[in-house]
Amino acid sequence: MQPRDGLGLKVHDGRVCLLDQTRLPQEEVWLTIGSTPEMVEAIRALRVRGAPMIGVAAALHVAARAEAGDEADTLADDIAALRAARPTAVNLMFAMDRLAAALSRNGISGVIATAESIADRDVMLCEAIADNGAALIGAGERILTHCNTGALATAGIGTAAGVIRRAHEQDKGISVWVDETRPLLQGGRLTAWEFGQIGVPYTLITDSMAAALMREERIDRVIVGADRIAANGDVANKIGTYGLAVLARYHEIPFAVAAPYTTLDPECETGAAIEVEQRDAAEVRGVTGPAGDLRWAPADAPVHNPAFDITPATLIDHWILDIGVFGPSDVAAGALDAGGAAFG
Ligand code: MRU
Repeated sequence: MQPRDGLGLKVHDGRVCLLDQTRLPQEEVWLTIGSTPEMVEAIRALRVRGAPMIGVAAALHVAARAEAGDEADTLADDIAALRAARPTAVNLMFAMDRLAAALSRNGISGVIATAESIADRDVMLCEAIADNGAALIGAGERILTHCNTGALATAGIGTAAGVIRRAHEQDKGISVWVDETRPLLQGGRLTAWEFGQIGVPYTLITDSMAAALMREERIDRVIVGADRIAANGDVANKIGTYGLAVLARYHEIPFAVAAPYTTLDPECETGAAIEVEQRDAAEVRGVTGPAGDLRWAPADAPVHNPAFDITPATLIDHWILDIGVFGPSDVAAGALDAGGAAFG
């Protein structure tokens, strides 16, 4: 396997190393993943996360096992276990299905080549999304984003965060409101950290501040990522996205979703068919960090903790994909049905 040196994922000496995203921003701890149970645990615990990134990480891990000499039967079991690690982001299923097909068609060498191409292609998809999306953004816009959709969440520069980064690189004078993104704080812990590193001007807010900022006319656009996009344009993304879309419509603020074609799921006719991951109650009751446990709710507090919500297509103004930017009439005419990709 070729060496890789991404912000959140590296490949060295044929092994996949992950920047443990649960430890950011306090500590930069790199994990070398040896076994498939380790990679499954890393995906479930969100040590590696973001829809495109979990597909890429799982694919490169299977390639590493193939290169280490694992038999085809073992690899097929690994692919099945990784495919089931998280249920909502279709990129993981897309990547694992491509590896399974390559394994049965071309054996071990097919697995390695396919995994490399999934990772390489994700970099290119991010670039295309960034170019397409940045063209929408006007000078001086104040953009709200949610969760983390940057270089930690993809093999490239990101999806929604990549669009923002490109507009910043184009000197459009933009600034960003970063939602902290309860309960796991991907915005506060990860997006703020990434934007700080690349110099994108941002201000961190709690999720509950977005409504007031919109009413005060201090938000010009909302751009978020996606974990799965149904054929009718409904979008599964981090919990809280739907609320932002409702708020944006009420305040007449354009709401965009940025994603690669690997996030499209033409087999889901609508968002109702998308499985939403339910996560542990402990994530809402408190936090576990390097300094130990901090709980702010009773240990037995009943908790509801869906990791994602579904935003109906009727609330979305732009779908920013690698193949272009689509509006509601394109989507109603079936633009997302066909899937498709900018690169072969
Ligand atoms: O639970 P997470 O942190 O994996 O959720 C991530 C998101 O919801 C992102 O918005 C989405 O995966 C797009 S990442 C480019």
